[in-house]
Amino acid sequence: MKSYYQVSCLLTTTCILLFGCGSSSDGDHHISASTSSVGKKIFFDESLSSQNNQSCGSCHDPNNGFSDPRVSNANPVSEGSESGAFGTRNAPTAAYASFIPLFDAVSSTTADGTVSQFQGGQFLDGRATDLVTQAKAPFVNPVEMNNTDKAEVVAKLQNAHYANEFMEVFGANVFDDIETAYNNMTLAIAAFEASSEMSPFSSKFDAVMAGTESFSAAELNGFDLFKNKAKCANCHTVNDPPERSLFTDFNFFNVGTPVNTNNPAFIANNSFRDQGLADNLHITNPTDRDAQRGKFRTPTLRNVALTAPYMHNGRYQSLQEVINHYDVIVSSAEAGFTPMGNYPEIDENIANELNFGDPNFAPALGLSPQ
Ligand code: HEC
Ligand code: HEC
Repeated sequence: MKSYYQVSCLLTTTCILLFGCGSSSDGDHHISASTSSVGKKIFFDESLSSQNNQSCGSCHDPNNGFSDPRVSNANPVSEGSESGAFGTRNAPTAAYASFIPLFDAVSSTTADGTVSQFQGGQFLDGRATDLVTQAKAPFVNPVEMNNTDKAEVVAKLQNAHYANEFMEVFGANVFDDIETAYNNMTLAIAAFEASSEMSPFSSKFDAVMAGTESFSAAELNGFDLFKNKAKCANCHTVNDPPERSLFTDFNFFNVGTPVNTNNPAFIANNSFRDQGLADNLHITNPTDRDAQRGKFRTPTLRNVALTAPYMHNGRYQSLQEVINHYDVIVSSAEAGFTPMGNYPEIDENIANELNFGDPNFAPALGLSPQ
């Protein structure tokens, strides 16, 4: 079993993947600066919600690593524009999302033989092919910005203080057609999301890679564990060379995250289990879809110290808890110890890197599947 020292080094390393400190010299990729600048105004415009109180930035706040500062393990799901309206998942960071590849049936296998048959796509189950498709959803989602339809959103956009700027970028006639205006609105958002402001590569990790700072001994030890013994980099990829690593392979796995009984979806119905990738209708064959139950796209670990709670359901409040989830279970697999933790939300397709696959361990611990 790993010593406490090793565990805390690993934790330190996970922490240093965090800080976005100021802007960087990276050029923006994809689209022009003016498109990105109007996209930023849209991203932070609360008037585009039903109650004038919610923007993309409410749930993806730059001061919180572009995730929601209002949530915690106890209240893991963002409230929508309408009070009391909740979805089912913990809002992930929207930073670095522009690097997520298009959703596709790409098969790959980790160093420990865990197979992922799909890759990429926005949302934790990859169901929105790209950023533009993703950005169309929140404005008209009843548990998010809650507008009745696209026409209502476009009418608000036309009244926004930056409407002239929007017309300068997309043409004087852009508001003549609702679909055209709505599509261009989402293009502008995607341009902002692809800008260096949302992907600054300005963490301590980046400074160390650039040779301007150094890891402490504990951080160095943690980085080594992360890449090697603890198997984290099997899925949270470290590039070779490691510059601009995103700490994700964009593949889909079930790492055995237990139910969060504080999730409003579970409180409403205690048989609720998040099916993850199995709910992605781009996988057209129902049998293929069923085979993906419980898998989620490996998240980036950039800014991770700012984005608690963790996992798709906010099950863990601290990085220490996440490390315990992996460390004790992985150690147990290695050394034959009894694992800690609760029963996985979906006890299928558990990654080989974990030891949750044994159907006997939950009863042995006196836990019942929940
Ligand atoms: C009420 C909170 C809320 C609002 C408002 C909101 N989001 Fe999100 N966002 C979420 C949640 C929750 C998810 C994950 C949902 C899922 O996986 O089903 C998400 C996922 C995303 C993702 C995908 C990240 C990934 O790793 O897959 C992006 C990008 C994103 N949102 C951008 C936006 C944009 C752009 C807007 C405004 C148009 C917006 N969000 C508005 C809560 C919110
Ligand atoms: C088999 C692939 C795999 C391995 C190995 C793995 N992870 Fe993960 N990791 C994932 C997936 C998939 C998720 C999302 C799980 C969920 O939402 O239920 C995740 C989630 C996380 C999160 C939460 C991120 C967030 O934004 O909520 C952290 C932190 C994390 N992993 C760190 C680690 C560390 C540290 C290790 C090594 C001890 C590790 N992971 C090993 C695939 C993996």
